[in-house]
Amino acid sequence: MMGKNTVTSDMKMAEVIHMNYLLLPVINRFGIKLGFGDKTVEKVCRDHGLNLSFFLDIVNTYHDPSYFPRDKMRGYPATLIIDYLLQSHEYYNRTMLPEAEGMIEKLVSTCSGHCEDLRLIEDFYRKYKEELQNHLSGEEIHFFPYVRALVEGKTGGKDLETLRREYNFSYQAHADEHESVIAKLVDLKNILIKYLPPDYDVEVCNNLLYWLFIFEDDLKDHERLEDVILLPVLENIEQQFRNQQ
Ligand SMILES: [Fe+2]
Ligand SMILES: [Fe+2]
Repeated sequence: MMGKNTVTSDMKMAEVIHMNYLLLPVINRFGIKLGFGDKTVEKVCRDHGLNLSFFLDIVNTYHDPSYFPRDKMRGYPATLIIDYLLQSHEYYNRTMLPEAEGMIEKLVSTCSGHCEDLRLIEDFYRKYKEELQNHLSGEEIHFFPYVRALVEGKTGGKDLETLRREYNFSYQAHADEHESVIAKLVDLKNILIKYLPPDYDVEVCNNLLYWLFIFEDDLKDHERLEDVILLPVLENIEQQFRNQQ
């Protein structure tokens, strides 16, 4: 599975950024900031008290679409995965969504013709932002606490169905939300690429598109971690819980 472009523990952290600068925000989510000097990935992880193997698997998952060691990743503690996912949520809320909004506002301000089309884009984006924020906060309030309650045994003697109801958790609703937040981001890109009359500053629109491509890739990797790693981990935890009852 280790290709020549795989991030390894003995690489210098600076080399990792040179190899793929899109990994920078992923690395930041582990509490690591620039200024690594010549430290290796292993040394930086040790200095930050991080699980090296988990760090490498996450970084490589984002770096190389063919790298996805499912079984190994399903072996990590659910709380470790959740802590990483929460950091990603913070990045979407703090950086991804506001930056995209700022770029759209800038685009609207450069309009020189069919401004109503651009205003529709702005409106579409505002609704999208609200939907994604609802999805993220729903996971923070319901999904992750439900997993934590089972892992930590804080279930108050209740059965699984009651707990799911109390935490408002449903596999189907979760899957539907994921499909929608990805599909709408793709729609937004397509409207810009295919249908929007180009009565605006081209460079501003290009920058917005670059940003949306980065956003989509990051969000897809994020949702895949939840769907393909965390949910099967949860199913296992639920099965163990049933067996104990
Ligand atoms: Fe999430
Ligand atoms: Fe999600």
